[in-house]
Amino acid sequence: MSELLLPGLIDVHTHLRVPGGEHKEDFATGTAAALAGGVTMVLGMPNTSPPITTAAVMDDVHQLIARDAVCDVGMFGGASTADIAHLPTLGTKAKALKIYLNDTFGKLRVDEVPTLVQCFKTWPRDKMIAMHAEKQSVAVGIALATVYERPVHFCHISRKEEIELIADAKMRGLPVTCEVAPHHLFLGAADYERLGAFADMRPILGTPDDVAALWAHLGDTVDCIATDHAPHTIAEKQNDPPPPGVVGLETSLVLMLTAVRDNKISLERVIDLMHTNPRRIFDLPVQPDTQVTVETGNFTIRNADLKTKVGWTPFDGREVAARVRRVVLRGATVFEDGAVLAAAGSGQIII
Ligand code: DOR
Ligand code: ZN
Ligand code: ZN
Repeated sequence: MSELLLPGLIDVHTHLRVPGGEHKEDFATGTAAALAGGVTMVLGMPNTSPPITTAAVMDDVHQLIARDAVCDVGMFGGASTADIAHLPTLGTKAKALKIYLNDTFGKLRVDEVPTLVQCFKTWPRDKMIAMHAEKQSVAVGIALATVYERPVHFCHISRKEEIELIADAKMRGLPVTCEVAPHHLFLGAADYERLGAFADMRPILGTPDDVAALWAHLGDTVDCIATDHAPHTIAEKQNDPPPPGVVGLETSLVLMLTAVRDNKISLERVIDLMHTNPRRIFDLPVQPDTQVTVETGNFTIRNADLKTKVGWTPFDGREVAARVRRVVLRGATVFEDGAVLAAAGSGQIII
């Protein structure tokens, strides 16, 4: 067994469920899960209840981050036709904008072309626009990035045709970036047979060809690994239909380090995907004196060890090659041997 020292990881795609979904997760439990996974900075999604589509809702959310968070948190604002006039003020308080073009969990969704155009015209030009990528959304996003000459980031790319479209767009110099979620790399449609609702998320798990294409593009086209940490309770997952989504904050790094052991990716590339690139793409601040100590060896992911409020992961029972031993954030030991040591509210708000 040996130890590795890594920078604090950044996860640009998490659902922390505040406001309105606090029975699934809150800033205390979600950021504790982040630290347990070696993640010291997260970006939170706006598909809450109410959704984060105005500066007033964002102000309330910021107060709760300031009270509860144990790692640094930036928030996405959400695009909606009803609140489209709020984008410039929301833009002063959000780290980035999220546009949903497809149905998923929650009501946030943009169908109207004028709303999309407004997003690209009025969202602050120095802040990223991210799109939920499913079906035709990547093609729509590349077109908008081209017309309005501004960067677009695509969330949770899961399909061969999507990653190939993004590779072609990048080859032409278009300003697009993308992330892949660990569940789309380490699970596939066959796991859905085994896990049912506990492996149901949007986008759904891919075919072996999709999974192979994502791995093949990890070395170049893919910019970030981001979890799409989307907690729902076990009881909710047993409903018909179940809400889509699985958690990921506590398993992302150890799965990627298992891939390093198995010679599927280099450690340097993992650091690019989980630290360097997310920071550059979303213009996130440096966290001084921040590092993660990982122990390598043979470990098993267990539901019982999780900090997320929902207490389950589709990776329960999976053998991995590493575990997070210690996290130091701004010089303070905030996580060690399974215990969160940070004071509530010690995480900073990123704007
Ligand atoms: O599976 C998903 N769950 N995909 C999404 O886009 C939303 C997320 C959620 O918020 O539960
Ligand atoms: Zn999404
Ligand atoms: Zn998501």
